[in-house]
Amino acid sequence: MAIRIIRTDHDPILRKISKEVTSFDEKLDILVEDMIETMHQADGVGLAAPQIGVLKRVIVFDLYDEDGPMALINPRIVEQNGLQMEEEGCLSLPGRHGVVKRPLSVTVQFEDLDGETYEITGEELLARVLCHEIDHLDGILYIDKEIVLEEKAE
Ligand code: CO
Repeated sequence: MAIRIIRTDHDPILRKISKEVTSFDEKLDILVEDMIETMHQADGVGLAAPQIGVLKRVIVFDLYDEDGPMALINPRIVEQNGLQMEEEGCLSLPGRHGVVKRPLSVTVQFEDLDGETYEITGEELLARVLCHEIDHLDGILYIDKEIVLEEKAE
C-alpha cells in the first residue's frame, strides 16, 4: 500500500471526466487500497480517484462507523429524494468550506472489486459524501455548487 499525493486547487486533472472501469484486476485492488490509505492519512471521509491523479470512476469513503471503509466502482445515482443544505469541505481544496445543496437521500448503483453490481442508499452525511465524490468523477467541485449566503443588509 502507498500513500498518494492529493491533487489540489487548480490542478487541471480535477476538472477532467473519469473513465468507466472495465478491468476488475489487481491494479484496481491496489488503487482502492492506496485511496483508502491516502484518505485515512488525510482524515477525510471520502476520496475520488481523480484527486490522486487517476481518471477512473472509483470512489472510497469512510464515515468511521461500524461499516468501515467502502469502495464503489462506476458509481451512479439512480434515485434521489429530499433536500439538505450543509457545509462541505474537500481534501483538494484545503483550508476552505462552503454550504452546498444536496439531496437528503440518494441511492447509488455501483460495482464492487469483483465487478458485481450492488446498490447503496445513504442519507444525510452519507448522501452528501456520495454526491460530492461522484461529482469529482465528472470534474465537478463543490465550489461550483456552493451557495454564497447573502450578507444581511446593515
Ligand atoms: Co472533494
